Amino acid sequence: MTLNPGDINLAKQDDIARFGAAPYEYFEVLRREAPVWWNPPPEPQNPGYLPCPGFWVLSKYEDVAMASKDHERFSAWENSVLWTDVRRDPAQLASQRAGLMGMDPPQHTQFRRLIQPGLTPRKVANLESFIREHAQEVIGELAGKDQVEFVFDVAAELPMILLCQLMGVPQHRRDEYMQLGNKVASFEHNPEFQNDIVALYLFLDDVVKSRGDAQDDTMLSKYLHGEVDGRRLAKDEITQFFVTLSIAGHETTRNTTAHFVRLMDEHPDQKERLLDDIEGRMPNAIEEVLRFSPPVMQFCRTATCDIELRGVTIPKDSKVYLSYISANRDEEVFDNPDRFDIGRSNADTHLAFGTGPHFCLGAALARTQLRCVLEELYRRLPDIELAGSPEPMNSVWFNGINAMPLNVCPVSSHL
Ligand code: HEM
Repeated sequence: MTLNPGDINLAKQDDIARFGAAPYEYFEVLRREAPVWWNPPPEPQNPGYLPCPGFWVLSKYEDVAMASKDHERFSAWENSVLWTDVRRDPAQLASQRAGLMGMDPPQHTQFRRLIQPGLTPRKVANLESFIREHAQEVIGELAGKDQVEFVFDVAAELPMILLCQLMGVPQHRRDEYMQLGNKVASFEHNPEFQNDIVALYLFLDDVVKSRGDAQDDTMLSKYLHGEVDGRRLAKDEITQFFVTLSIAGHETTRNTTAHFVRLMDEHPDQKERLLDDIEGRMPNAIEEVLRFSPPVMQFCRTATCDIELRGVTIPKDSKVYLSYISANRDEEVFDNPDRFDIGRSNADTHLAFGTGPHFCLGAALARTQLRCVLEELYRRLPDIELAGSPEPMNSVWFNGINAMPLNVCPVSSHL
């Protein structure tokens, strides 16, 4: 059956479930036939969830990059960067605007400055021996096991150790922190969302209380003691930052680690290339995995005026959906985009981390931890293989994997 743009509804949960997550088939049609596409409204999912009245989908690389950079016309501050229409609820709107992801420059730039210096590639390079040591520990735990559930028992570990270290959350509270972050991130299917978000706020209160007046290099300390425009930060600003990091700081890296292993299993020729020169080929292989299976499918912006794009008028106040998964498969930018090729020369121009003022603050950290953990994994256990089908996350936001059983083969002589 030929698929037409009229058949497409990116907000239909049944279709998301059918595709397992990323509906690449839809985007191939949209890029070709309707690169600026009006999608009908999402259905309400939870109490308190306010769906927007439909949204405009940008599926071309050039358009997603342009809108990400043009904060004056495509604002993060005007309304939620998700599908929710928080303008209908003043309390939700205020919370969204207190968070980094819901601000526009110049205010956004000032808040970003509080933590950006601690996450530069140079600062992350200084952390590499710490990251490597923990990556070795996480992978070392696999030796001697026959089978593991890879996503939460392995891939989640390193991102959480690092997030706790950088945030200033005690390591013994790591699992509790991860579980709260996961429950809040899965707001689409979580009827307990309101309770879970309150539990995350209480967790933050507790962490802050136990820190006392301590000032250090952690991101939490920078937020608790930092100043913007000569004033200390409001409680809501600190809370929203904490909530953002509770999701952004580990879901993404965990899912990319899982996608990497899945893709190597599905493409034995590429795995062989990698094993021939693990250190040499790993950085580009990671970029290709991020291009091919980005863990974040989309964020939204809101049009601040009527915008003409490719002969279509996007009316003021509309939600605009920026599809990273589609931009990364744009045939005008990537040759043969549906081919997974770890040697692809422009793999690192993908938009998996976004671009423009909101470009992912954790990109250098994510790249380093992915490199360390995956090098250790393939050096020690080159024969690992999937022991069953990965269980997709069924989210309209994350291209994630909920569970993935792996056969762990004997520790190899590659050591
Ligand atoms: C593979 C891993 C990761 C991917 C693919 C990823 C992707 C993204 C994307 C798509 C955005 C939004 C860009 C936009 O709106 O234009 C973002 C923002 C952000 N990410 Fe990441 N991320 C990853 C890892 C991390 C990590 C490890 C951290 C922190 C420890 C982090 C912290 C943030 C923060 C704080 C923002 C908000 C930036 C802002 O609004 O200015 N991310 N990330």
